Amino acid sequence: MTKKLYIKTYGCQMNVYDSERMADVLAPLGYGLSDSPDDADMVILNTCHIREKAAEKVYSDLGRLKPHQQKKAEDGSRMIIAVAGCVAQAEGDEIMARAPQVDMVFGPQTYHRLPEMVSKAKRAVGEKILDTDFPAEDKFDHLPEERVRKGEVTSFLTIQEGCDKFCTFCVVPYTRGSEFSRPATTVLQEARRLVADGVREITLLGQNVNAYHGEGAEGREWGLARLCRELAEIDGLERIRYTTSHPRDVDDALIAAHGDLPKLMPYLHLPVQSGSDRILEAMNRKHTADDYRRIVDRLRTARPDLALTSDFIVGYPGESDQDFADTLKLVTDIGYAGAFFFKYSERPGTPAASLREQVDDAVKSERLSALQQLLESQQEAFNASVVGKTMPILLEKPGKHENQLVGRSPYLQPVHLDIPENRHASMIGTVIDCKISSLSGHSLFAVPIDDAESGTDSATRHNTARPNPSEPSSGQERISA
Ligand code: 5AD
Ligand code: SF4
Repeated sequence: MTKKLYIKTYGCQMNVYDSERMADVLAPLGYGLSDSPDDADMVILNTCHIREKAAEKVYSDLGRLKPHQQKKAEDGSRMIIAVAGCVAQAEGDEIMARAPQVDMVFGPQTYHRLPEMVSKAKRAVGEKILDTDFPAEDKFDHLPEERVRKGEVTSFLTIQEGCDKFCTFCVVPYTRGSEFSRPATTVLQEARRLVADGVREITLLGQNVNAYHGEGAEGREWGLARLCRELAEIDGLERIRYTTSHPRDVDDALIAAHGDLPKLMPYLHLPVQSGSDRILEAMNRKHTADDYRRIVDRLRTARPDLALTSDFIVGYPGESDQDFADTLKLVTDIGYAGAFFFKYSERPGTPAASLREQVDDAVKSERLSALQQLLESQQEAFNASVVGKTMPILLEKPGKHENQLVGRSPYLQPVHLDIPENRHASMIGTVIDCKISSLSGHSLFAVPIDDAESGTDSATRHNTARPNPSEPSSGQERISA
């Protein structure tokens, strides 16, 4: 690799996957990933448009890049700056006008065309490239098979993009386009390659991942449940997760899969957004709070150790004190292991943005902090509930301290183990049964249980505690659903 590529990823896990794929596309052109924009030959900002703040960050980061770009020019070389992702899709022309130092602006469905764009941009300084085409199928057909990987044990795999649900607050149907599912055969191929590279956990991604309906082997349509069943057959793949899902697309087959597939982790992100039927209707969610309660009951019947997380919006236009009280009631009824919560943010072009009854910001702040308090106390209780239990831990990497390994519980909680360094290489990527000994902040500490003593298979379920995720507010946005 002769050229330095710096990619900054904003927003959800789908952007994380997209950034990896951009690096894959650019690797044959000699671009190798770098950790900083200093001296980079190309900088890509892979942006998020879901809320106003997320979009505004891009412009301030572009400002911060200017001196780096100037320095590079003074040294007789060039830094190409690109804006990718959903802000690029939604505000391409505006970016070009507001930030003249940007060379390329391209939307989420165009990454396979990066080599052409780069060669055009290189032909002349000042040549501007704007590509915001749809649809997604072209992209997936043309992304390279070769992946640039750094030996991680876990990986994202996008199986579905776009959304046809049109929740009234959400920009996704406009920035990512309509719903598209990749064929199951190509998903399985990619999964097998990842596992051959040492990946042990795959998180299937989609804006509405459980609306997945890709073409299967016999030309028949497969749903997410069928896809998970086939993935579970891959030897060496220990864990399957998916995010993010919509309550309306939780079907019988998916509930059954949660009951039948030990590899499907008992930790589900199922956004509800609000607990008020009036607000759910106004949001065009097309289900009630009780519908959601019933789905959760059925999932928990199928998989008693299932833990749930959700997204919530407070201060949707017209939200009354009673509507908000209904949200708190739903949270209390369900008992979450973690959650993401947001103040409603007006997004241009969405139906909710033109509603007159916008909620005062001070009221939104009050509601946000009340909801946060409740959800955080639930998360703390969940984390505390696993102490003393035995859980299978996927060992991922060395910890910050000497002779320490860090892994993840089925609920994505980071778990720290004291393991001598000379055993790390052979243990990373394995799942071992551990007894959780203590909790500090969001981190758990554990001791491995001797296989002979536990007498259990790594994929066997152990934890019967109620779900309790950890780290939901890791700074990464959730995908909408
Ligand atoms: N304002 C606030 N939050 C939003 N989300 C999506 N659009 C908006 C908006 N306009 C939240 C939803 C979604 C998550 C990814 O972001 O809760 O599930
Ligand atoms: Fe689609 Fe989710 Fe956005 Fe609703 S919130 S429109 S389901 S992406």
